[in-house]
Amino acid sequence: GAPVTVDVSKLEPGQQMVVKWRGKPVWLVKRNEKTLSDLAGLDSRLTDPKSEVPQQPAYIPHDSSRSLRPDISVLVGICTHLGCSPTYRPEIAPEDLGPDWVGGFYCPCHGSRFDLSGRVLKGSPAPSNLVIPPHNYPEENILVVG
Ligand code: FES
Repeated sequence: GAPVTVDVSKLEPGQQMVVKWRGKPVWLVKRNEKTLSDLAGLDSRLTDPKSEVPQQPAYIPHDSSRSLRPDISVLVGICTHLGCSPTYRPEIAPEDLGPDWVGGFYCPCHGSRFDLSGRVLKGSPAPSNLVIPPHNYPEENILVVG
């Protein structure tokens, strides 16, 4: 499939945008400083905090941002358990997800939980972090996926 070009200049902190690439949903989520520092404190709750299972291109950092541009997360929106599409749930501790929910993606099929970098939380049936598609920024606010 052809690469997809997206203008990300209008993406606001907390906002999610969904584009299609090779028939799959790709999520773009804009994050603020607070979210990034919260993500850095989650390691002990994650199955693979350093993304050692290869689910991302080699040029993507293996840190808590999993991102070329820390303020924007780029993820394939398909659960690594059995392929459902998780729901974007950025709110902290909503009633239905419980007091330890820190914002992320929730898979309604079997309850897998992912943080806002797509890293899977321990206790989820999903075995690995969400996939990061190949992508780059040829210009500051122009993202090319693929
Ligand atoms: Fe997402 Fe099973 S497909 S938890």
